[in-house]
Amino acid sequence: MSEVGRTEERVMPAGSMGWQPAAIAEKVAVCGAYLELVATTPELLEVARRALYALALSAGQRVLEVGCGTGVFLPLLAAAVGMEGSVVGIDHSPDFVAQARERVAALGIAETVEVREGDAYRLPFPDGSFDAVHCERVLMHLDDPTAALREMHRVLRPGGHVVAVEPDWRAMQIDHPDFETMRLLMDRFAETFRNPAMGRELCRCFAEAGFVERRIAPVFFGATDIADIAKFGLDFSESEAALVASGHVTRERAQSALTYLVEASRDGTFFGFGGMFVESAQAQSDCAPL
Ligand SMILES: C[S@@+](CC[C@H](N)C(=O)[O-])C[C@H]1O[C@@H](n2cnc3c(N)ncnc32)[C@H](O)[C@@H]1O
Repeated sequence: MSEVGRTEERVMPAGSMGWQPAAIAEKVAVCGAYLELVATTPELLEVARRALYALALSAGQRVLEVGCGTGVFLPLLAAAVGMEGSVVGIDHSPDFVAQARERVAALGIAETVEVREGDAYRLPFPDGSFDAVHCERVLMHLDDPTAALREMHRVLRPGGHVVAVEPDWRAMQIDHPDFETMRLLMDRFAETFRNPAMGRELCRCFAEAGFVERRIAPVFFGATDIADIAKFGLDFSESEAALVASGHVTRERAQSALTYLVEASRDGTFFGFGGMFVESAQAQSDCAPL
């Protein structure tokens, strides 16, 4: 991204509205390409490595991926549980379910991996039917993340592991001489997500959902080019327009602030950082077994 905030074409639909089935259907190629791209970044590979470790999977287990998208994580889960195990991915987007099924078929793992259309609030499975549940960058888009976590708790066997990975857009910081304008732009962008601070809220939501043995691992990343943050969907176009329209900042000041980001990236003075949180826990062992 060369001109942050003035891109003609979005990398992805910004914010939580972009991950509703109808919005995905409108931009399925863009959304799918975005998921593929970010999954290969060092940042998300590191998060995936930690999540997989925390899931503590072993051969023969049954694992559920909630909000599997195009299924980038499904092959890793399949490898961890082996031919004796089974993996189920669910997503509320029929387009993503179709893409995930294609991926699974192309990789020859359809015998162990099933992909179904489903809603995180109403998981179509009996109580206690999984050994582990994984969920990445989904809770931040939900109206009621705790309700979705309760569902994950319900379908887990007693003592089963859950792992959720979420960012905290409100914790993102960018060094900028016009701190005030930068803060306004970032706060406005964060508001496009239903739960912009989901990462830091995981501990509380996990506790409310009844999970025990909770552990949280913050994973922070630094960037010396605005493009390295923009690839995760950061886009100030809407923020700039809204703040100018509401009179919070003049157009000139907003544009100058955004131009600085690009120039600082070019001359090597840009620095920003942000974080993802990997929360792991276990279902209570006094829950009704299957
Ligand atoms: C940012 S994408 C992440 C996809 C995938 N977890 C990954 O890491 O590539 C968010 C996903 O959550 C799904 N999603 C959002 N709300 C959902 C819901 N209520 N039930 C099921 N899936 C949902 C979207 O369709 C989308 O695939």
